[in-house]
Amino acid sequence: MFSTRDKIELNNLPKHIAIIMDGNGRWAKTHGKPRVFGHKNGVVSVREVTEASAELGIEYLTLYAFSTENWARPQFEVNALMTLLVETVKSEVKTLMKNNIRLLSIGDLGKLPEKTRNALLRAIDETKNNTRMSLVLALNYSSRWEIVEAVKKISQEVKAGTIDADQIDTSLFSTFLTTRDIPDPELMIRTSGERRISNYLLWQAAYAELYFTDVLWPDFRKEDFYQAIFDYQHRERRFGMVSEQLEKSF
Ligand code: IPE
Ligand code: IPE
Ligand code: MG
Repeated sequence: MFSTRDKIELNNLPKHIAIIMDGNGRWAKTHGKPRVFGHKNGVVSVREVTEASAELGIEYLTLYAFSTENWARPQFEVNALMTLLVETVKSEVKTLMKNNIRLLSIGDLGKLPEKTRNALLRAIDETKNNTRMSLVLALNYSSRWEIVEAVKKISQEVKAGTIDADQIDTSLFSTFLTTRDIPDPELMIRTSGERRISNYLLWQAAYAELYFTDVLWPDFRKEDFYQAIFDYQHRERRFGMVSEQLEKSF
């Protein structure tokens, strides 16, 4: 069967793809089921994009799993999401090990229920020496939280005299973010037809190519992912320059 994968240039892949996995609730509704049913089925899509990324040679895949704003959802849904996270992380460790994938997380883990946090920390520790790809879970994450935290830490360093205020520039600032060891995403995908960033990687996505699709997250499959990458490969990334200054790769 024809697949967009065959059209992807393997020497022009994004190093880092960030995804806003959205539309689980609406997907469940179209199936006449409660929202949690959508979250459960979303795990299949997580497996698909993780596998596709590793197969292609993507180095970092960051998934928005829970935002700091998501605590405002009904308690029942929050609890279900936290339980699903524990179960998924636990059950996927084997696959991560088999495929040499390292699990990382960004976000305020301190505020997660202990069970969720412990399962996550254990999986991160178990997979820490894997080298093929990094799967980053944005959990209790939001960019404004992250940026404010960075400002607090830098202020303390300035106060302590270990950093001079004049030294602060964009590269120094980046080292205070949760993504300090992760390159910026070149491609950001959001499913479900919403066209917003929802407090995700605002600093890091400064020059990311944005890709929006109407596909609801639980329906998102490898082919949809390949289409996003193919689309990305046909964008002209100018970084403030003019077209003529860029070396054309296609
Ligand atoms: C994304 O799907 C999953 C999380 C935010 C945890 P939603 O739950 O936001 O689904 P919709 O947007 O209501 O359809
Ligand atoms: C963004 O989705 C957060 C995650 C995917 C975890 P939301 O569904 O929470 O975003 P909004 O509320 O529609 O902006
Ligand atoms: Mg949503």
